[in-house]
Amino acid sequence: MGKNVRHFIDLDDVPPETLKAILSHAHELKKQKFNPPQIFHGLSLAMVFDKRSTRTRMSFEIAMKQLGGHTVVMNMEEMQLGGSESIESTANVLSRYVDGIMLRMSDQAMMVELSKHTQIPVINGMTNESHPCQIMADMLTIEEKLGPIEGKKVAWFGDSNNVSNTFIQASKIFGFELVLALPEDLHGKVPAGADVTADAKAAAKDADVLVTDTWVSLGQEGKTIEKFQPYQVNADLMTTAKDNAIFMHCLPIHEWEEVSEEVAKSPASVIYDEAENRLHAQKAILAWCLEEAGVSVQDSFDFADE
Ligand code: CP
Ligand code: NVA
Repeated sequence: MGKNVRHFIDLDDVPPETLKAILSHAHELKKQKFNPPQIFHGLSLAMVFDKRSTRTRMSFEIAMKQLGGHTVVMNMEEMQLGGSESIESTANVLSRYVDGIMLRMSDQAMMVELSKHTQIPVINGMTNESHPCQIMADMLTIEEKLGPIEGKKVAWFGDSNNVSNTFIQASKIFGFELVLALPEDLHGKVPAGADVTADAKAAAKDADVLVTDTWVSLGQEGKTIEKFQPYQVNADLMTTAKDNAIFMHCLPIHEWEEVSEEVAKSPASVIYDEAENRLHAQKAILAWCLEEAGVSVQDSFDFADE
């Protein structure tokens, strides 16, 4: 132990200047997508899941491989963890095999506990509380489409969840205005300091970005969704936003609940660029986390931390 281990569990745990540097690096790595630098040569990432995934699994695996590294994937239910083996033992053993661990683990406290015992970085591939890798890809997408994120107005619609929690953290770090339009009974669930309204049109007014997510997150199957209907992102809501406003969604969409088909398939929708950007954002997140394991990033690049 003793060495500095760079975990990526919550945006709030990483210095803002470092996050901005990771975002710049993601822009650079996307430009190099057809000649990716082999900076992960000889390094391995373990990926552990306790929930379904398409984008997170694919993009981490391809990110490691395109940059010269390796991956090993396990479902949590196949591991000894959760059976007789402790978090501490699992953390110590994985630290001897691989150079980083990406987890999609419902319980964020358990992920933090694991990170206290690893000698390698732990990366959050989504918990019930947060989804930081998704939001880094979203920042990349907004900047590509609309220029610097600072000062933009982002309007969120529907549920209060892991993705909206991380958008709230990002708004303070990257300096954009965020308004959340949610059913009244959810306002108390939103982290303090966020701008919340029950009025979807007021939130959409002059927004640069309209964003939503499923009303039924993984593990909430069977939940009633009637109260969310006024928060569907549809053509009427889009006309309230700026003329060049974009529509975002981390995917998967529950067809056609939280967004109308018309909006999701309109020219304003950037959902597939957003999905692609998971790959580029994650390369930059991995590069920062693995720098201590010997990854050398471009000479011109400085993560601006510590
Ligand atoms: N957006 C996202 O995290 O997608 P997956 O659940 O498919 O990984
Ligand atoms: N809020 C959703 C995001 C899926 C990527 C969920 O937790 O299922």
